Amino acid sequence: MADKYEQVIELAKRRGFLWSSFELYGGTAGFYDYGPLGAMLKRRVENTWRDIFVINEGYYEIEAPTIGIEDIFIASGHVGGFSDPLTECQKCHEAFRADHLVKDIVDNPDTLSADELTEIINKNNIKCPECGGKPGAVYEFNLMFKTSIGPGGKRAGYLRPETAQGMFVDFPRLLKFYRDHLPFGATQIGKAYRNEISPRQGVIRLREFTQAEAEIFIDPRDKTHPKFNEISDVVLNLYSQAGQAAGESQKMSIKEAIENGIIAHEFLGYCLAMTYQFLARVGVSPEKLRFRQHMKDEMAHYAADCWDAEILSDRFGWVEVVGIADRTDYDLKAHAKQSETELAVYVPYDNPKKIERFTVKPNMGILGPRFKGKAAKIANALKALKPEELSGDVIELTIDGEKITIEKDAVAFEKVTEEVHGETIIPHVIEPSFGIDRIIYSLLEHSYFEEEAVEEGEEDKTRIVLRLPPEVAPVQAAVLPLLTRDELVKPANEIVKMLRKAGILVAYDDSGTIGRRYRRNDEIGTPYSITVDYQTLEDGTVTIRDRDTMKQVRAGMSDIADNVCDLIYGGKSFEDSGRRV
Ligand code: ATP
Ligand code: GLY
Repeated sequence: MADKYEQVIELAKRRGFLWSSFELYGGTAGFYDYGPLGAMLKRRVENTWRDIFVINEGYYEIEAPTIGIEDIFIASGHVGGFSDPLTECQKCHEAFRADHLVKDIVDNPDTLSADELTEIINKNNIKCPECGGKPGAVYEFNLMFKTSIGPGGKRAGYLRPETAQGMFVDFPRLLKFYRDHLPFGATQIGKAYRNEISPRQGVIRLREFTQAEAEIFIDPRDKTHPKFNEISDVVLNLYSQAGQAAGESQKMSIKEAIENGIIAHEFLGYCLAMTYQFLARVGVSPEKLRFRQHMKDEMAHYAADCWDAEILSDRFGWVEVVGIADRTDYDLKAHAKQSETELAVYVPYDNPKKIERFTVKPNMGILGPRFKGKAAKIANALKALKPEELSGDVIELTIDGEKITIEKDAVAFEKVTEEVHGETIIPHVIEPSFGIDRIIYSLLEHSYFEEEAVEEGEEDKTRIVLRLPPEVAPVQAAVLPLLTRDELVKPANEIVKMLRKAGILVAYDDSGTIGRRYRRNDEIGTPYSITVDYQTLEDGTVTIRDRDTMKQVRAGMSDIADNVCDLIYGGKSFEDSGRRV
């Protein structure tokens, strides 16, 4: 029997959600096309994400190039270290991720070096999963696609492996856009590219995929969130570091998790809540969702705390779909160093502060004649001294390797009180990073159901239904004249027109029995089917059928567009949309 993955992919292919790319030429692993319904579903999921992050949080969206220059990825660490351990079978030359080959033998294989992995493979006599041959020595394979910019191939470029860098590189411009005020965030939805070693998991592991990322720049001295109260009671299924050690996850409110030191701070907790709300809204089953904290040895070197939203899938088990990290000031510092530009924010104090400052004033009248060419260097070294370094009878300095003793009368020092109006800080970054393709697959799987049919003429067949939330369903309403007679087709076309005018994507379908037509729409997730029958001609009403319950109501035709919009976007209940039939 086909497993759920096969059932979902069969439907997705047949009905135009997902197609293997380049099928005409035999296809290539790691690339998928979104067909007409898939592309619309994806767009709606992305728009829901926009609604939460861009419209509700005010983190404006930017669009940076998908190719980046080398400096960016030197700074980000991708040129030096964005790799997976690769081993090639010496017999069939198939490539594998070495950490995947040893995953049943050691815990956390992704923390091991290439040499350690080679040793484990050899010691345990691990064979090539394809042909049984011997895997070769493991080496690190950089996952970035490299290209060159301009003719001549002299200037290296890379297809971006994450959208995040676009926001870091634009930091000075964004800071101005947000009028130098923290916290602020920028978002980007776009393609990312990773030359994955052996992608065998359909849309879960692609070589070209879509990320939706937010980079939220915060003041590191204040990690509270202004809207924390709105989400503090949200209960999440947390698989914390301690939980993983004990082998169990725990349901807990965000507030409680922060109080118990499980989630590092409010800002991160708020991002976990937004992630939960988004995933549930687009159709991920909350009971198949957990938040797994990175173990200490798994955490990226720059991250202070990091959680993955993981979704349970039938075939692949728990799959990471979102990474939520406190990236500290790592990225801004790295780009500041590489670009030799200060990437920081001047934060004014609410009230100026009085601070005592210790100043050292070298007496150049003494130092100049005595030290000549070295006097300036010595003066600078003296200015940098702290009070405790001036407590002895003489001052000892080392300048260019030479020990120099200076008498106290060559310097004057004093404490001055100054009024300070603010300070310059490097913001920290909180980053939720969503993999849209993995989310699309998960919600297709979670919304896929097979059940007994009830409609006339279809009783003996299994009903396939995609219980997608109406907000993301690609086709939002089907309009079905009961019979292909002019007197029914005419009002049906009028309804199509009214719905389209209201921005609803409608499918008009007049072929086959009404049961077949309901069924065709059920399996692509169309939430509402509107049927025009002879009663329509008498009293101006139509039936609306609810996909999930298959119940029907009769409702007026003249305000059908408002009615359907309220059902899809306004939270109107189906029972309230008409009179039960
Ligand atoms: P994995 O460990 O599964 O390779 P990752 O830890 O490398 O994932 P991140 O670098 O955190 O993933 O990327 C952020 C998000 O981008 C992931 O949560 C995932 O949803 C998505 N993503 C990453 N790599 C791929 C891929 N090859 N195909 C599809 N989506 C991906
Ligand atoms: N920006 C996080 C990631 O793609 O890894």
